[in-house]
This record gives sequence, C-alpha cells and structure tokens, in this order.
Amino acid sequence: MDAIVLLKEDHKTVEKLFKKFEAAGDNAVKTKKKIAGQVIEELTVHAFIEEEIFYPAAREAAPDTKDHVLESVEEHHVVVWMLSELAGLDASDERFDAKMTVLIENVRHHVEEEEKEWFPEVRKAMGRNRLKDLGERMEAAKTEAPRDPLAVQSARK
Ligand SMILES: [Fe+2]
Ligand SMILES: [Fe+2]
Repeated sequence: MDAIVLLKEDHKTVEKLFKKFEAAGDNAVKTKKKIAGQVIEELTVHAFIEEEIFYPAAREAAPDTKDHVLESVEEHHVVVWMLSELAGLDASDERFDAKMTVLIENVRHHVEEEEKEWFPEVRKAMGRNRLKDLGERMEAAKTEAPRDPLAVQSARK
C-alpha cells in the first residue's frame, strides 16, 4: 500500500474512534475507557511508524518539509505523553473527559497539517514506487511497534 494512503487510513480509523467517544454519554465510563484504550494503541503504533520510517524518508526526499516534520515531532511529543497519562487514568476521574477532549483537539490539528500542508509535497517528491515501498515497510513495522506510548522516540526528546 502507498505510504500516504496507509497513514490517511490510520487517521480515519482514529477519527472514527474520536466520534464514538464524543457520542458516548457522560456516564458511559466503561465504553469511554475502552475507546481510550483503542485510541492509545492506534496512535502509538501510528506515531511509531511515522517517526521511525515516514518522517526521516520525507525529510530526505523533500528537504523543504524539514520545519513541518520537526513541528510534527513536537506535536507527537505532547500527544504520546497525554496518551500515557490517559492510560493511567480512570474514566470516572474528573480529568478524564477533559484530557481526552484536548488530545482529540491536538490530534485533529496535527492530522490536518500533515494531510494539507506537507504530505502533498512528499507525494510529489517521492513518486509512486518509493511510496509503495515505504508503505510496505510501515505495514510490516506495525507488528513490531511498541504499545507503550512512552516507547516512541518523540517521548524522549
Ligand atoms: Fe503524525
Ligand atoms: Fe499521521
């Protein structure tokens, strides 16, 4: 699969989980905890394959995207720490919904920037074959990706 198509599919999966979370009622504590768990796993794997494979390849192929990539890593940094806090938070905690809401806002902003501001440049610079090759590598890397958000590179910097 084309690398950018793969990443956009992930974005859609996460957006669906966000919508589910937003539709869950105030008292749907169990449901919300379960959705949060799925969000944590999806976003951790996604951030991992972007940071390990896609971001470095994007910088190399399209050096003009450097600032966007660096900003994206900083956004990942915030997101993975929020994910790790959410993992340890009870859904009945008064801060749970608020933390999820801010996470959702951050991720939506991040996804919009990736998809609108710099993925198109990377697509142009890389071409089909390169993107397909990268996509295959990312697909394979998903199986070895960590499930702990703090094991992602950007958590450490
Ligand atoms: Fe990202
Ligand atoms: Fe992404």
